[in-house]
Amino acid sequence: MRFFLALSFAAVVSALPASHGPEFGDDSPLSCARLPCNLELVNQTYILPDPFHSIDGEPVTTLADWSCRATQIRALFQKYELGVKPPRPPVLTSTVSSSGVNVTAGDGTKSVTFSASISYPPSGTAPYPAIIAYDGLNVPRPAGAVIITLNVDTIAQQNGPQSRGVGVFYDLYGKDHSAGALMAWAWAVSRIMDVLEATSANINPRRIAVTGCSRNGKGAMVAGAFDQRIALTIPQESGSGGDACWRVSRAMLVKDQLATQTAWEIVGEDVWFSTNFNQFATDNYTVGLLPVDHHELAGLIAPRGLYSTENVGFLWLGAQSNWECMTAANKIYQALGVADRQGFSQDGPHDHCSFPYDQTAEIQAFYDRFLFGKEDTNTSVFRTVGNWTYDESWQPWSVPELA
Ligand SMILES: *[C@@H]1O[C@H](CO)[C@@H](O)[C@H](O)[C@H]1NC(C)=O
Ligand SMILES: *[C@@H]1O[C@H](CO)[C@@H](O)[C@H](O)[C@H]1NC(C)=O
Ligand SMILES: *[C@@H]1O[C@H](CO)[C@@H](O)[C@H](O)[C@H]1NC(C)=O
Ligand SMILES: *[C@@H]1O[C@H](CO)[C@@H](O)[C@H](O)[C@H]1NC(C)=O
Ligand SMILES: *[C@@H]1O[C@H](CO)[C@@H](O)[C@H](O)[C@H]1NC(C)=O
Repeated sequence: MRFFLALSFAAVVSALPASHGPEFGDDSPLSCARLPCNLELVNQTYILPDPFHSIDGEPVTTLADWSCRATQIRALFQKYELGVKPPRPPVLTSTVSSSGVNVTAGDGTKSVTFSASISYPPSGTAPYPAIIAYDGLNVPRPAGAVIITLNVDTIAQQNGPQSRGVGVFYDLYGKDHSAGALMAWAWAVSRIMDVLEATSANINPRRIAVTGCSRNGKGAMVAGAFDQRIALTIPQESGSGGDACWRVSRAMLVKDQLATQTAWEIVGEDVWFSTNFNQFATDNYTVGLLPVDHHELAGLIAPRGLYSTENVGFLWLGAQSNWECMTAANKIYQALGVADRQGFSQDGPHDHCSFPYDQTAEIQAFYDRFLFGKEDTNTSVFRTVGNWTYDESWQPWSVPELA
């Protein structure tokens, strides 16, 4: 039995490597990345935008087409929702000790320094896999893995609308830089990745996960979507702005009158998104013009590992929207032939950001496969206690088999 399992997973694995940097995808040909300056925004309030047609209507039929389309989706998210992620800066140095790393990033005229703490495991084998945890770990710590903790507020504060533009990211790139806090944190994660690739800290840069809970879970998803060197992304109870699709959360609020967080609310609450997103959140009717949604943000993580958890205990997180949106994201994993590299597990009710016992074996399977390289591990996890069924009307597009 084990033998056959191993065979069937090996067949999938040979198709696409699970971790395939560089940081950004293949940005050539440039026509993929360039958006027309006068892109016409189409009102799609009751459907999720089609991941498998480019903005000029060309169908995505091959893996190369998808790579190009993914570049376009990254450009759209930067322009309309998250702000621009600056590339690796010209000056980048680091000092690493047994308990931390200091990263100095500069543009040649000024520089900033931020730090992350490092905790080595008591057992295991170097070079170790590692988890980059935003503000600390809320998921179980796997034996044999390093934990790198990043205090996200030092990078970009998120303490209400007044805190926009505060943190070392803005000290370097300017207070008015388009990136919201989630994108600024993703930039810091990529700089840590640069350091791990360049230094011998006994950490394997090809076996890195990123995680966070709640607002930090939204951030973890952005970090995974915008750096292809990250092997595993674990957004925990990320809710609206993470696992949820803006349009479905909007329907939960406006149609079903459920107290769910929407784009309209979130832009007034904090500075997680770019101010460029505000135009889609002026009321309950503008979000339909956004040319992307979060099934595509999660889909940018494919073909790498993604395991997200949700909690039906909080309507605010958008329970039904989480299920709908991550099921739509799985269509992208399916198109790439790697459906089982995306896990989704929605249980509860339980305390926000407490990790329930019944998800322990699931997350361990993702650790085993993507951090410890045990490819014959079953990561087919897609479940909810919410009793929802996937509402096909959100997805009027079909799913190609890309090869
Ligand atoms: C990082 O910088 C802080 C403050 O200067 C210092 O206390 C710490 O030892 C440094 N850590 C490393 C790894 O260099
Ligand atoms: C959006 O809809 C909700 C629920 O109907 C309502 O409470 C809220 O005031 C609306 N927001 C705006 C800006 O109209
Ligand atoms: C988009 O379409 C919906 C449904 O027809 C409509 O209610 C909404 O006002 C439109 N939004 C914009 C910004 O035109
Ligand atoms: C993998 O695990 C899931 C959930 O426990 C189960 O439904 C499925 O049958 C398993 N797949 C294989 C190939 O063993
Ligand atoms: C799902 O259905 C079961 C069985 O009817 C019920 O016990 C449970 O409360 C439902 N879950 C939710 C989140 O409504």
